[in-house]
Amino acid sequence: MSTNTNPDGLPNIDDLQFLANELFSALPNEFPKEISLSPDKAEHPRATKIAETLLHAGGANILTPFSAQSPLNVNLAPPSFSGFGGSPASASQSSSASALYPNAGAGFDPKYGIPSSGIPEDNGLNINNPQTGFYDINLKNSRSPQLNEESLFSSLFLNDQYLPFQSENSSFENELKIALETVDTFFRKRNDFPSSGSELQNSYYFLDQNPFAFDSKNTNAIVGSSFGTNPLSGSTNSAFNAELIKKDFPILSETVNGKPLIWFDNAATTQKPKSVIDRIAYFYEHENSNIHRAAHELAARASDAYEAAREKVKTFLNAGSVNEIVFVRGATEGINLVASTWGDQNLNSGDEIIVSNLEHHANIVPWKRLADKKGLKLRVIPVDDDGQILLDEYAKLLNSKTRLVAFTQVSNALGTVTPAKKITEMAHAAGAKVLIDGAQSVSHMKVDVQDLNPDWLVFSGHKLFGPTGIGALYGKEDLLNEMQPYQSGGNMIQDVTFEEIKYHKAPNRFEAGTGNIADAIGLGAAIDYVTKLGIEQIGQYEHYLLEYATRLLKEIPGVRLIGTAKDKASVLSFNLQGYTNDQVGQALNKEGVAVRTGHHCAQPILRRMGVETTVRPSLAFYNTTQDVDTFIKTLWELKKVKF
Ligand code: ALA
Repeated sequence: MSTNTNPDGLPNIDDLQFLANELFSALPNEFPKEISLSPDKAEHPRATKIAETLLHAGGANILTPFSAQSPLNVNLAPPSFSGFGGSPASASQSSSASALYPNAGAGFDPKYGIPSSGIPEDNGLNINNPQTGFYDINLKNSRSPQLNEESLFSSLFLNDQYLPFQSENSSFENELKIALETVDTFFRKRNDFPSSGSELQNSYYFLDQNPFAFDSKNTNAIVGSSFGTNPLSGSTNSAFNAELIKKDFPILSETVNGKPLIWFDNAATTQKPKSVIDRIAYFYEHENSNIHRAAHELAARASDAYEAAREKVKTFLNAGSVNEIVFVRGATEGINLVASTWGDQNLNSGDEIIVSNLEHHANIVPWKRLADKKGLKLRVIPVDDDGQILLDEYAKLLNSKTRLVAFTQVSNALGTVTPAKKITEMAHAAGAKVLIDGAQSVSHMKVDVQDLNPDWLVFSGHKLFGPTGIGALYGKEDLLNEMQPYQSGGNMIQDVTFEEIKYHKAPNRFEAGTGNIADAIGLGAAIDYVTKLGIEQIGQYEHYLLEYATRLLKEIPGVRLIGTAKDKASVLSFNLQGYTNDQVGQALNKEGVAVRTGHHCAQPILRRMGVETTVRPSLAFYNTTQDVDTFIKTLWELKKVKF
């Protein structure tokens, strides 16, 4: 559908109202909350209001509000709170926006985060206006509040006013903006999710809403649910639309203590999209069998689906062969497998294993136990006060006795991203093998085993939007085939007599007994989901979200951020002065915000940072700046009580 414009180039209010009306009628759970003034037209009462508001906000560019500030385009316009604290939008922000919107004038409407011709350059944020807010898309160039602590505190609490980033009505404004971005598709009826079909082709709900999405021919940034060409403006600017993505995760519609659930415990486990849940249900409804291909139809279906999932893991990690992918319970089992097989076979008294100070207990305890059993030496790569690996210290630990370097790619407690390729190269140069713990990395960044070149890499499905109880061990094929079996029994043997047993090659050699067939298939569906969103886009969006949250968190007096590495993913560990971590966790829970508090199964690194426990929010691509705002506001309120 095209939109008419009036002689000024502004959209026609009737068009806008029509679009708004269509949107509100099409939104799930959206029904008129007031009596319509024009019941014969079935008009949604919010449509008139929003159309008028939008029209007054500026010119035709209002039809591209999201693309104006895509976090994927560093040259785009400034955030909606560009005038925060009364300071003007920066010159660079203004000029980049002017370039993009030659008709837009110098200023930006902080209310909408979009270029606006009528707003003076020095227009500041109006703290009395609860609609002053900004959208997730405005992350890249966003600036943190410039108010000093005292003035911010008094404006927030003493005068009973809003935090500047709060917006009472922002969700419905957001809905409209989303709709305008993909307006054509809202005129189509949403398809119900297919209840069957082994590959569940239409399992991406937002896809049904966006005909521009998932164009497999497009290999650039415009891949994934919320990336696409604006059908009205023709703009190719892309935007990562976490609000739409959220709708794919049924549990994110839950309420906790009467508040919408905000899931900030992604480092512990991620939530599952409906496509994963449905894929597992489909398996049990249509394919359930043990995997012995030749026996019968269902056995063939189950075997095919299970091996297709292995293929997906292989492609996801860019492994050379499916024979390099072993299904395990999770990262922990993958590490234990390597310790009990290769480690037990090859390591002898006096040999050395290096781990980093950042490790999760899962990448310490199996090695420590092996070291104690066999008289090995466990050495530890230190980190600096920001929680970054000290590569020069690592170099000093490497020697001819080093047999293995086992380290994490992303710290679960601090979020530090380690220089995995460099660490691996250095270990190999010393003749050591390398195991990478990818439990916290695979959901945030592209992990390419041919590029990183570890000997083994492990990850857990449940931290990748897949089910619990399933994960994968990648291992170089020759190495896997040299390793003794882990567990033994059915499925892993070629031939058994009482005199002699012949084992299968990898991966079956390591998959004794009946495995977690359904969840392996569910993991395959999770990989499909993440792949279609685009792991690079996910990483980029999360990076901006993390920066946004970090900046706001650091503004709160009494907050100590634990882990301040330059390169971080997802995690914001902190303490709040005057409160125990559990008190902070409970206060957040009251607001529906789920965070982990405790030692995060990584005591050595927390002790290195001088603490026993932290509060640990951890982000994923379905989190939004509004989620962050709720979290930040709760901390400010705690501060108000205490100080
Ligand atoms: N390893 C998980 C975490 O970091 C459980 O919370």
